[in-house]
Amino acid sequence: MRIAMIGAGYVGLVSGACFADFGHHVICIDSDEEKIAALKSGKIPIHEPGLADLVASNVGQGRLAFGDDMKSAVGNAEVVFIAVGTPSRRGDGHADLSYVYAAARQVAKELSKFTVVVTKSTVPVGTSDEVERLMRDENPDAEFAVVSNPEFLREGAAIRDFKHPDRIVIGTDDARARSVITEVYRPLHLNAPPILHTDRRTAELTKYAANSFLATKVAFINEIADLAEKVGANVQEVARGIGLDNRIGSKFLHAGPGFGGSCFPKDTMALIKTGQDNETPLRIIETVVAVNDQRKRAMARKVANAFGANGNLRGKSIAVLGVTFKPNTDDMRDAPSIPLITALQDMGAEVRVFDPVGMPQAKKVLENVTFCNNAYACAKGAHALVIVTEWEQFRALDLKEMASIMASSVIVDLRNIYSPEEVMRNGFHYCGVGRPKSLAY
Ligand SMILES: NC(=O)c1ccc[n+]([C@@H]2O[C@H](COP(=O)([O-])OP(=O)(O)OC[C@H]3O[C@@H](n4cnc5c(N)ncnc54)[C@H](O)[C@@H]3O)[C@@H](O)[C@H]2O)c1
Repeated sequence: MRIAMIGAGYVGLVSGACFADFGHHVICIDSDEEKIAALKSGKIPIHEPGLADLVASNVGQGRLAFGDDMKSAVGNAEVVFIAVGTPSRRGDGHADLSYVYAAARQVAKELSKFTVVVTKSTVPVGTSDEVERLMRDENPDAEFAVVSNPEFLREGAAIRDFKHPDRIVIGTDDARARSVITEVYRPLHLNAPPILHTDRRTAELTKYAANSFLATKVAFINEIADLAEKVGANVQEVARGIGLDNRIGSKFLHAGPGFGGSCFPKDTMALIKTGQDNETPLRIIETVVAVNDQRKRAMARKVANAFGANGNLRGKSIAVLGVTFKPNTDDMRDAPSIPLITALQDMGAEVRVFDPVGMPQAKKVLENVTFCNNAYACAKGAHALVIVTEWEQFRALDLKEMASIMASSVIVDLRNIYSPEEVMRNGFHYCGVGRPKSLAY
């Protein structure tokens, strides 16, 4: 099949490369000329494990290409995926659909035969209907069908997720479009992922419901962690105790500094707005968002409390390890580290930062921090080490070395990656999330 992928970001580039790897012919189009120039010269603009090799191999075999010529890409394609961004709209939290609509209009102009146009971007219920309407306005003679096919991949494990999805959701009532899109995913049949055929609105809502449910799990275990600290219980054991129940499941039950990233914050907000617009307030998700927002500053207070300093970190140097919203990505969008660092600075701290791959992105969004070259350079002279993102390389730090170079021995482990006993054996004051105080102090 000939596929045009509009938007070569985290989703478009991974999906495009994976479709090419299945044997399809894919061209990825992006309005960002620098991104396309980089891709054409063999550079991958994002950090995603395995992506560079996958792209190189498929470009080499002539199945994957990059460009900015919408006319030839769309004109030659049987299927066009729209995978552009849908960030929060400034001011009101609705999904900003301007990129999706702009892409749809551009695509409509270039259609020359029956084409299936797929919204892969995460879009609110009814968006695909609107995409269809404005494409008809733009090109009344065009023959096309609009399908909703939301993407569920996770950054950091995106290729595996794309090739071994838990499910594929295809939203369309058009039989011709359904058979085309089924053909696009046919190479996956060996892995036998469940394919859910729904109408478009159901597909659109499924994506938001999935992300909001996962965000709810995270917010839930974080509140249980706060209670565990107060009552002398261990949230990790509670999470295991409930996660082994198949009805609950063990994923997304890790207590930490609150969810962030490129999807959960904007998608929960957008679903809340859809609920309000339809006079169906989604109180649970509203609470999840509010609880999660407050958590970032609460984590800064946790750092201050580790010194018994009552909210004052004046004169203290704090080393932050990991700033991307999760490991194995360079994505800084809505990373919990950003409000956490601001709160530390508000309390008077001087902040030092190290992240294994996120530094170039971090430099664009973090102000008044000292960027360091590795974990030890970051810790040097610091009064506390705060682990914010659980990169593998932070799991076995040389604690003796750390203790010898730091100004005071405090570790605030917001991901619970260390055993408190081990850290304390090395002379540190340890503070985790949701662990009994007897272990932490
Ligand atoms: N990042 C994820 O983990 C993830 C997972 C599932 C779903 N999604 C959804 O997928 C969509 C894309 O997310 P992303 O993270 O890949 O975003 P991204 O910002 O990384 O990529 C979007 C790309 O689209 C390009 N673009 C914008 N308008 C364009 C146009 N008119 N023509 C061509 N290119 C255009 C941008 O230049 C950018 O490179 C969003 O709706 C997001 O919610 C993201």
